[in-house]
Amino acid sequence: MQHSSKTPLVVITGASAGIGAATARRFARGKYRIALIARRLEKLKSIQTELETETSLYELDISIASDVRKTFQAIEKENGPIDILINNAGCAFGIEPAFECKVEEWEQCVQTNINGLLYCTHSVLPSMVARDCGHIINLGSIAGTYPYPGGNVYGATKAFVRQFSLNLRADLLGKRIRVTCIEPGLVGQTEFSLVRFRGSKEKAAKPYENTQPLTPEDIAEAIYFCHQLPPHVNINTIEMMPISQASAALSIHRKKN
Ligand SMILES: NC(=O)c1ccc[n+]([C@@H]2O[C@H](COP(=O)([O-])OP(=O)(O)OC[C@H]3O[C@@H](n4cnc5c(N)ncnc54)[C@H](OP(=O)(O)O)[C@@H]3O)[C@@H](O)[C@H]2O)c1
Repeated sequence: MQHSSKTPLVVITGASAGIGAATARRFARGKYRIALIARRLEKLKSIQTELETETSLYELDISIASDVRKTFQAIEKENGPIDILINNAGCAFGIEPAFECKVEEWEQCVQTNINGLLYCTHSVLPSMVARDCGHIINLGSIAGTYPYPGGNVYGATKAFVRQFSLNLRADLLGKRIRVTCIEPGLVGQTEFSLVRFRGSKEKAAKPYENTQPLTPEDIAEAIYFCHQLPPHVNINTIEMMPISQASAALSIHRKKN
């Protein structure tokens, strides 16, 4: 693949915690140049101290279109063209049934997982197309394929991520730009559950009780693997679960006798 003349530059959104931070560490070990994005700059600074590679930090809320545009312009101005975009930032709020959810939380989920991902993608596409190279890696979820009670809008946003990734590749046919969607199941050691359960540590720990989930490092390794394959190979999607997780049978409601 034609990279920019320098070491390839990878941009990771949601790099202040969990999968994003683990992915930063993985690409740092591969000696990539790295640009990290999140709203909490202090967290990014602390991760930067661990990385023995050229790293730049960008405080950004990806749900604000004008800020995303400005930040990506700044990234390219300061570092040159972006070779890899990892659209990892994402969130879910609550596990209540749809009829008990707050519409503001649905909006924030859609605004981050769908619109934020679109703004970042839209910012890198023209340059990748002009250079005829690049790799966009999106974080979907098994929640985008398998419905579960309380998954309502979160799962729907991840179904969007999957289909958008596939459609993007359809538009990019004939270009040497790869698009991959990684769809993890249960991943521990992230802040995902803490955010979902609105800061309650006790509730956040429940999904991981007495089981062995995937780790952020497992996902980072899969992301890195997809990018390390020869440039003519495009991994469309990877669905991954811990061995302790499987899809359940369809449920049936039965009347009481
Ligand atoms: N954990 C799982 O079980 C699991 C399973 C399947 C898929 N996923 C997906 O994997 C991705 C990473 O999740 P994770 O488990 O690593 O969760 P996490 O630990 O909560 O990390 C989420 C990251 O997204 C950032 N973020 C959230 N909203 C943002 C916004 N508006 N602008 C910029 N950054 C934002 C957060 O940083 P700041 O708060 O500093 O902005 C944080 O760095 C998500 O897309 C998630 O849906 C997770």
